[in-house]
Amino acid sequence: MKNLVLVGFMGSGKTVVGRRLAAQLGMEFCDCDQLIEQRTGRRISDIFAREGEAFFRQLERALVRELAAGSRRVIATGGGVVLNPENLRDLSATGIIICLWAEPEVLLQRLQHDTDRPLLAGTDREKKLRELLAQRAPLYRAIPLCVDTTRLTIEQTVQAVHELYRQHAGNGTDTR
Ligand code: S3P
Repeated sequence: MKNLVLVGFMGSGKTVVGRRLAAQLGMEFCDCDQLIEQRTGRRISDIFAREGEAFFRQLERALVRELAAGSRRVIATGGGVVLNPENLRDLSATGIIICLWAEPEVLLQRLQHDTDRPLLAGTDREKKLRELLAQRAPLYRAIPLCVDTTRLTIEQTVQAVHELYRQHAGNGTDTR
């Protein structure tokens, strides 16, 4: 059974939506950031602060390879997974990649109380978010399957992703 891979900007809902989908589909839920935190015993923000983003990207890359090698998984990726085309190549080889999109106003609202996104830390979060989203938008938009969550509830998003996965995952005869 193919993996279901969620990509999208910070605050797009990958973790909460992925967790519910995994329960609905009877699949294993894997959250990349949470796994990195569990395995290193450190917060993502601490890894960024001490070793820097490039080191975090190496950890993320190794984990993506590992998770993509399995099946029956719902994988919630970190927002920057799209920066490395090798990640997308591996994830698409064994899974259906679905992008969760949201307009910047909604992302800002969803992230207003967040304290663990190092790329948005400090002053002028709105400017940082808009700049980063503008840089990355072409990468997210290049994912063929996308759900615009801007005006959707979590439950509606779960349903929309479930339906897309059902349509694209094949007829279910592959039960690996
Ligand atoms: C990042 C997103 C974060 C986390 C790290 C970097 C990014 O994940 O991986 O802070 O580059 O967009 P979420 O998308 O789960 O917040």
